[in-house]
Amino acid sequence: MSQPIHMNAGPLGRIDIVPTGGKLSVTPASALMVRAVGSSVAMLAGSGIDWGTGSGCIAIAAARIPAVESIVGIDVLPADVAAATANARRNRVSAVASFIQADVFAPGDESGAAVLEELKEATGFLTANPPASPDGDGLGWRRKVLAGARRFLVEGGPALVQISYQYGMARIEGLVDDVPGYRYCGIAATTGWVPFDLGRSDLARQLVQYAAEETRGGQPYVFRHPEQELEMTAAAALEHHRATGSSPLSKWQAHLYVYEPG
Ligand SMILES: C[S@@+](CC[C@H](N)C(=O)[O-])C[C@H]1O[C@@H](n2cnc3c(N)ncnc32)[C@H](O)[C@@H]1O
Repeated sequence: MSQPIHMNAGPLGRIDIVPTGGKLSVTPASALMVRAVGSSVAMLAGSGIDWGTGSGCIAIAAARIPAVESIVGIDVLPADVAAATANARRNRVSAVASFIQADVFAPGDESGAAVLEELKEATGFLTANPPASPDGDGLGWRRKVLAGARRFLVEGGPALVQISYQYGMARIEGLVDDVPGYRYCGIAATTGWVPFDLGRSDLARQLVQYAAEETRGGQPYVFRHPEQELEMTAAAALEHHRATGSSPLSKWQAHLYVYEPG
């Protein structure tokens, strides 16, 4: 078994997470979301859902909040559900955090179905660090998760969603037009400028995808030049990387949306 990774949940203390086994199961985006939960203590209460829970790190941080009565982590991979369950035990939050297998929000078995049925229109908050979508502008999974969560959230329920800086504020705020029923409420947590590490094959693929989206006429992405105080589009960042080998800069961020139907 791998050694636990120590993650900083701010006022909620340190959590110890054994990764799920996947190479990218705990990333800088995971660390940012754990910190975001720590800085959102006052707004997270009642029953929560952590969508795409992976190692369970976000759910486990949320389970430390005294006003959180329960949190259910959902993942499509049974191995992640098992790893998250073991991590909850390791951090002594099993009484509050539990995990089920589901594809998007479609439960894999009857007990998962019963859990999700109870959460309909009764979920106080959502947390999510969804995967990047391999097509379109990259935010397709975020739209799917926010759309699906409307069946669960109570009116006024916050959704804390990981979306990095390079997507640009127009696209990030525009999610409320793509998925009606939410109000955009700003940045919940952010890192400073960090390399969008093109040594990571997933991020290298994403940059190519973003440049293709710009060519199709999509909104420009917003990176920071690695050496100068300049903004760069994805196409410019890709060209610079091909010429110099350096990665552009971005920020890992968590954004807050509040469910306000009608
Ligand atoms: C970016 S990882 C985040 C993991 C964890 N929440 C974290 O922040 O470290 C996205 C997670 O979404 C899960 N996922 C992908 N497709 C899914 C689906 N169709 N339904 C539910 N979960 C899914 C993956 O298995 C993965 O654990």
